[in-house]
Amino acid sequence: MNFGLVLLGFIVVHGASLGPEPQCSKFHYEEQLLEKMIRMEVRVEEIEKRISKTNQHVHQTLEDLKTERRDLKNDYNELQTRYSQEMEEHIAEIGKLKDTLLTETIAFKARVPADKSLETGQTILFTETMFNKGNGYDNMTGLFTVPVSGTYLFTIHLCIKYKMNMFYGIMVDNTVQTSGVFYDSTTDHCNTADAITVLKAGERVYVKCLSTSSGEVLTEYNSSTRNYWSTFSGLLIHK
Ligand SMILES: *[C@@H]1O[C@H](CO)[C@@H](O)[C@H](O)[C@H]1NC(C)=O
Ligand SMILES: *[C@@H]1O[C@H](CO)[C@@H](O)[C@H](O)[C@H]1NC(C)=O
Repeated sequence: MNFGLVLLGFIVVHGASLGPEPQCSKFHYEEQLLEKMIRMEVRVEEIEKRISKTNQHVHQTLEDLKTERRDLKNDYNELQTRYSQEMEEHIAEIGKLKDTLLTETIAFKARVPADKSLETGQTILFTETMFNKGNGYDNMTGLFTVPVSGTYLFTIHLCIKYKMNMFYGIMVDNTVQTSGVFYDSTTDHCNTADAITVLKAGERVYVKCLSTSSGEVLTEYNSSTRNYWSTFSGLLIHK
């Protein structure tokens, strides 16, 4: 059979079936197929549109996420920078606080006066250093040189022979901080005086004889029950 015959057959079959169309004809089937294809095409178009829309949406969401991530990263960096700065400030503050709160130990006590007879204007030299934390006291000169600025307390304890008098001064450089007289008519007597002063580093503190009776005025001895020791002592109370 050649193609011409088949075509002829087709036309004959179709020509014969003109008029009321039987339901299961080839034409009807093809028509339905065509309709189906068109509907599918429309649906495919719709699906394509929806996919494209979804794509756009996904793309937009990704972009939004990227932006959000960038913002978060910027916020994080900003926070980190601020946090580091704040930490540094706090550390510096703590350092300063530590510096003001921790008062180092500066304390000395010296005894054994070099001379028992003194002259007006003489610095009383205490030769034996009992302790000297911070090395402020010099047992060659009798001077305490302030190592660290701050508030200091100084004490003198002078043992004076009876009927002798001693005008003393606790001095800071050339200024009298505390002065007075020790005297007793009946017995050898140890007396105490003190000075609380706010001092700058480098200032010098010492004990001066402002005037005195002539002859041995200081007395030093141990008894079984007590020591008569003249001393000069001081300490840093607060920076
Ligand atoms: C005098 O001071 C020096 C230096 O601080 C010390 O080495 C020495 O022991 C002191 N002398 C006395 C007798 O305390
Ligand atoms: C006084 O006592 C001290 C110790 O308590 C001692 O080192 C010193 O030698 C004594 N001095 C005299 C004169 O006995």
